[in-house]
Amino acid sequence: SDEPLVLGIETSCDETGVGIVRGGTLLADAVASSLEEHARFGGVVPEVASRAHLEAMIPSVDRACETAGVRLADVDAISVTSGPGLAGALLVGVAAAKALALGLGKPLYGVNHLAAHVAVDTLEHGPLPEPCVSLLVSGGHSSLLLVEDVTDTVDPLGSTVDDAAGEAFDKVARLLGLPFPGGPYVDREAKAGDSAYVRFPRGLTSQRDLARHRFDFSFSGLKTAVARWVETRERAGEPVPVADVAASFQEAVCDVLTRKAVDACRSRGVEDLLIGGGVAANSRLRAMAEERCAAAGIRLRVPRPKLCTDNGAMVAALGAQMLARGRTASRLDLVADSSLPV
Ligand code: KG4
Ligand code: ZN
Repeated sequence: SDEPLVLGIETSCDETGVGIVRGGTLLADAVASSLEEHARFGGVVPEVASRAHLEAMIPSVDRACETAGVRLADVDAISVTSGPGLAGALLVGVAAAKALALGLGKPLYGVNHLAAHVAVDTLEHGPLPEPCVSLLVSGGHSSLLLVEDVTDTVDPLGSTVDDAAGEAFDKVARLLGLPFPGGPYVDREAKAGDSAYVRFPRGLTSQRDLARHRFDFSFSGLKTAVARWVETRERAGEPVPVADVAASFQEAVCDVLTRKAVDACRSRGVEDLLIGGGVAANSRLRAMAEERCAAAGIRLRVPRPKLCTDNGAMVAALGAQMLARGRTASRLDLVADSSLPV
């Protein structure tokens, strides 16, 4: 194929990702995670993450080239997450990408992490429907975006006013004595639980809140409600039904996420919803989104879990789109921006 070969680098949080795509085809997706090193702290430690990126970068680039069966010299463009994310972690990826672009004499594209979460879907389902609404839910972000052009115009409709959805999963998992990161464990426990066991609060869904926060999320009240409920049980010397609490909590999160996502599509007259980010792996979120989208006549796209979590392939996918749409390359003085807006 003569479609361009793009190498993408992702280091915004704890995953060192190097992906290689040819046009819209995924060739390699090397991901090294420092998650285990953070587990004993119960969250990602920025300094530890930066150091791990530094160690994993070159081996990951080599591994991706090997898997893709290409030489670095064959790469037509380099793309890298320039923000948002952890400042020190981003710096490692941006420095590596600049070095590669300079050494190879190829264009460099600094891309937005959130837009990359959207663009990754092209690798599984083909060209993006634009405009579309995207619900991005991970440990670091929870946003609803209106995507007119993934390489250029992505408007935030709303986001969390406190915790990210994944963060809420991780905190509640901890309350329930489950390992970090807790999302997958809550998902697994919930399968055996009764989702109607406790009716936990749905943040920012009252008429009053909707007036100002129609597309925003809030999960800290929910987390506190779960903590109170668990405490009350424990104080009474009663056992905590972990599966039922996990299922009830998960139901509250998924209810709000899918309700607001469908509402966003309706309000903008958009017929396609795309869900991404680590929490998109959640089985209940997928099932509920399918149901509600079907009922509302909205087409739903959710990439497979491996593509939903942070990886280099998503950055390469967006780089390939930038190249295909003739976007101007970044200059070598590209700076990492930890609070880059979409
Ligand atoms: O996108 P991601 O890998 O990294 C960022 O945070 O950017 O997302 C990780 C988050 C964690 O909070 C994790 O607990 C959550 O995604 N997660 C899940 C599931 N799998 C991962 N949350 C709920 N259900 C899951 N099955
Ligand atoms: Zn992410």
